Amino acid sequence: MLLNFADLRRRARRRLPRFVFDYVDGAAEDERCLQRNLAELERLHLWPTCLRDTARVDTGVEVFGSRWAAPIGVAPLGLNGLVRAGGDVLLARATAGAGLPFVLSTASNSRVEVVRDAVRDAGGAAAVMWFQLYVMSERGIAEQMVRRARAAGCHALVLTVDVPVSGWRERDVRNGFKLPWRPGIATVLDVATRPRWLLAQLRHGTPRFVNLTEGEGAAGAQAQAAMLARTMDRSLTWESLAWLRRLWDGPLVLKGVLHPDDARRALAHGVDALVVSNHGGRQLDAAPASIAALPPVIEAVQARIPVFVDSGIRRGSDIVKALALGARAAFVGRMPLLGLACDGQAGAHAVLQRLREELERTMTLIGAADIAAIERSHVGVAPTR
Ligand SMILES: Cc1cc2nc3c(=O)[nH]c(=O)nc-3n(C[C@H](O)[C@H](O)[C@H](O)COP(=O)(O)O)c2cc1C
Repeated sequence: MLLNFADLRRRARRRLPRFVFDYVDGAAEDERCLQRNLAELERLHLWPTCLRDTARVDTGVEVFGSRWAAPIGVAPLGLNGLVRAGGDVLLARATAGAGLPFVLSTASNSRVEVVRDAVRDAGGAAAVMWFQLYVMSERGIAEQMVRRARAAGCHALVLTVDVPVSGWRERDVRNGFKLPWRPGIATVLDVATRPRWLLAQLRHGTPRFVNLTEGEGAAGAQAQAAMLARTMDRSLTWESLAWLRRLWDGPLVLKGVLHPDDARRALAHGVDALVVSNHGGRQLDAAPASIAALPPVIEAVQARIPVFVDSGIRRGSDIVKALALGARAAFVGRMPLLGLACDGQAGAHAVLQRLREELERTMTLIGAADIAAIERSHVGVAPTR
């Protein structure tokens, strides 16, 4: 039975080739940041309040004028096509079907227009889809993607700011899964032990970054190479946001902010929301846990814009902790992705439904009938003895 993160990991490990499992499960360097995300969440306890009317519990929230069934979003995830053939579309359908927002990654393997149709098909006209942007050295690539995201009706643009360079992920290095990918003999043997995965991949074809350019040709090949090598535009600054603003008039969200000074700068530059994130521990291994970075950012922002959080969310109670500390919603990455690896669209959907149920049960147990009733005093560090 797939009840929790440990169950999902165990099943996904059996279904995926090792190099794919490690790509999803792994993090940077010694993976301390990954562990810190979990440890800091665990250190926080919820203080229940009793005898409050919880006969009906409402998990719904409103963000940028849209209603979400719960304060839970699916974080942008690159290379979903490697985890499951057609992964972006399956994950998008699972998310929209659960009434939750889906964020499509720059490094996705299905076209933004196709994913938009899938989201609307599964979630109706009100379904929410955001687009995540990496800005690579060739700025024309980003301009093209933003134009398409806008034309496709994406509701917000999420600029990821914590990948000026890719984190050093030693599991990927050990498995020879460095980009550009040239599988060695170990990988060939690895893949041979997972024939179902291999067959599906062969049927679908190698996942490509199909949103980087409109068509194929020389520009297309160049863009693929740039994404594979992750040649990001390291000259990007706060001033560059004006360039993005000229291309995008909807909500602009910065993902990967940890420092409260950056939160204040974001306010000064008219950013519409922040995601406090350390990329699931995949970038700077020495970074603080996201949940520990959240309170200083909340304090800096003074409720002027919504603040979201991700990295290490594994339970509904983790989401309640984040909300009690002031987050508007939490995003999840590996949880739904492992669900996708285990059971496709149904697996991802089940993970999201379970998280929502856990959230509702936790709210009932702490005496909060709706999201606004979750208070700062509900969360604290309990005495160790
Ligand atoms: C396999 C994988 C691929 C990811 N790809 C992207 C990406 O393309 N863009 C991005 O902004 N973040 C990416 N992230 C980071 C997630 O958006 C998110 O910050 C992280 O997964 C949250 O931590 P969690 O997995 O513990 O929930 C990726 C994470 C994983 C695990």
